Amino acid sequence: MLQHRRGPLVDIGSGDGRIVIAAAKEGFPAVGYELNPWLVWYSRYRAWREGVHGSARFYISDLWKVTFAQYSNVVIFGVPQMMSQLEKKLELELEDDARVIACRFPFPHWTPDHTTGEGIDTVWAYDMSTFRGREKRYKQLSHVYGLEGCHLETA
Ligand SMILES: C[S@@+](CC[C@H](N)C(=O)[O-])C[C@H]1O[C@@H](n2cnc3c(N)ncnc32)[C@H](O)[C@@H]1O
Repeated sequence: MLQHRRGPLVDIGSGDGRIVIAAAKEGFPAVGYELNPWLVWYSRYRAWREGVHGSARFYISDLWKVTFAQYSNVVIFGVPQMMSQLEKKLELELEDDARVIACRFPFPHWTPDHTTGEGIDTVWAYDMSTFRGREKRYKQLSHVYGLEGCHLETA
């Protein structure tokens, strides 16, 4: 889902670091934020052992306390309850060139640009440029039809 893309990558809730390490091996400057310190220490050790400690960095951090504005590639494998709030956070923070990859649990309101896999292995890709284009068209139409204030998906 991130083939042929460049730029910094973040895995939100990086667990044992496997996504960040794989991304670093593909040439991305990659960062993981993870609440569990043991997993962060283990991830750093893995990155060092696999020779990518220069381009794979891990921080002990709560995802709600950091900004993802600087990342153009965002990966998330979270839990369903967080997806709605995370969607709003990413809408506010990400640049138009960002692509977001959601594993297992999709975002509730965004429409994916690409989907792959099936069942619990389904992965969705969302391009912020598409989302912003739809948002802009909606704003223009809502002005014409007097729908200001309605949620994009509801309207
Ligand atoms: C399903 S695992 C995904 C791990 C990894 N991204 C992967 O795909 O293998 C979700 C991870 O998110 C972490 N997590 C949950 N809430 C978090 C939060 N508020 N801030 C940072 N990490 C969090 C958990 O500790 C867990 O390691």
